[in-house]
Amino acid sequence: MTSILAITNQKGGVGKTTTAINLAAALALRKKKTLLIDLDPQSNATIAFVDASDVQISMYDVFTSPSPDLNKVIKPTKDPNLFLAPAKLSLARLEQQLAGAFDAPYKLKDSLAPILKNYDYVVLDTPPALGILTVNALVASTHLIVPIQAAYFAIEGTDDLLETYARIRSRPNPDLKVLGVVITLFDRRTNISRDTHEQIRAVFGEALFKTRISKNVRLEESPAYKETIFSYAPKSPGADEYKKLSQEVIQRVEADRSARHTQDAA
Ligand SMILES: Nc1ncnc2c1ncn2[C@@H]1O[C@H](COP(=O)(O)OP(=O)(O)OP(=O)(O)O)[C@@H](O)[C@H]1O
Ligand SMILES: [Mg+2]
Repeated sequence: MTSILAITNQKGGVGKTTTAINLAAALALRKKKTLLIDLDPQSNATIAFVDASDVQISMYDVFTSPSPDLNKVIKPTKDPNLFLAPAKLSLARLEQQLAGAFDAPYKLKDSLAPILKNYDYVVLDTPPALGILTVNALVASTHLIVPIQAAYFAIEGTDDLLETYARIRSRPNPDLKVLGVVITLFDRRTNISRDTHEQIRAVFGEALFKTRISKNVRLEESPAYKETIFSYAPKSPGADEYKKLSQEVIQRVEADRSARHTQDAA
């Protein structure tokens, strides 16, 4: 069974894209066949791998074509286990274009269905908004991963996300689960980081991943060189932490899978 992980938080600049890219790359390094789908019109995950000018067809075409073929959009990367479905700025037009379409929230789920068997993991990078693209991600996913920046007011806004999550679970996707919350941009030297960590732990408890992602300039630099952290700075703390996070992700996914299996058998 393929696990589809939406990296989501409607707050901007909290490390969604950095997490999507490097978690996907870490899963691929662990020999999991992984598809990274860019659902953000800003296309930050896309341009971390390819030049925007090299993207002819993109997720926009998947959302708007009457007979979408995700395979036509998917590009290989330098890692033979990692594939990319790129975005373009045109995705920003979807909100208006899909308004009124009865199947608007299901477009991604439907287009993924025929290709899921080719992948162990699908990682979705989502935009900083709870619009139609994020709703498509939540409908198509098996699990959410919520990056939260270690900064004041970090938790503000997560209420809206959790409310949307509850709504999606009540109807289109009852099996959706929060796989975990991951602290990003952590700086152990600051009180802000330490206080926020405590606050996030108090709110999210067990859902919090043990691995924290520290502030690490290598993580900021690598996309400019079209590298993941593992090829750009394999010995950096960022590489080490995303590797550890991928291990926790796999453990939680597998624990969840066997729990569901036991439930089904009962
Ligand atoms: N651990 C980190 N250490 C240093 N810089 C980081 C780290 N994580 C992310 N950044 C940088 O912080 C900025 C925001 O990160 P990122 O783009 O991943 O956030 P985002 O949540 O995807 O933003 P948006 O909401 O705009 O899509 C980027 O410049 C990124 O390179
Ligand atoms: Mg982003």
